[in-house]
Amino acid sequence: MTKKKRPASRRRPAKRAFPTRSMLAAMAALAREARERAHAPYSRFKVGAALKTRTGEIVTGCNIENASYGLSMCAERVAVFKAVSEGLDDFDAIAVVADSKRITPPCGPCRQILWEYCGDVLVHMTDLSGRSRTLRLSELLPMPFDGGHL
Ligand code: THU
Repeated sequence: MTKKKRPASRRRPAKRAFPTRSMLAAMAALAREARERAHAPYSRFKVGAALKTRTGEIVTGCNIENASYGLSMCAERVAVFKAVSEGLDDFDAIAVVADSKRITPPCGPCRQILWEYCGDVLVHMTDLSGRSRTLRLSELLPMPFDGGHL
């Protein structure tokens, strides 16, 4: 019987190195391509994301809106749910690309979902001009609620 893995949010921080700058740039380029596929007729705010496993698989996502606004889904969560549904886990970074004056960070619900499924990953946030900022998820979501509290 295979041993059941702890949820990402409850695993010890990775001992291995985080992705290199050039890897983060490559992820941002894929997120930018994904952003082109966004369905954002209501907000007109297109976002792309690229989530990477430690072993190098990259899964992208874009925001997908709905006329019933609350059903809209952010790019980050689309990437996480695609990846998890494909059986991937053990993520180490996510790139997020949007076009805004200030760099766009993941929204609150996305931070919570990222914490649960990806743990303390690097969040590489960029805009179309190439400006970027990279933080660990624990900096964006201090004192997270997770399965350890239940
Ligand atoms: N959005 C994302 O996809 N990711 C973020 O990090 C911020 C917001 C989407 C949701 C909605 O479709 C649009 O951007 C405006 O909020």
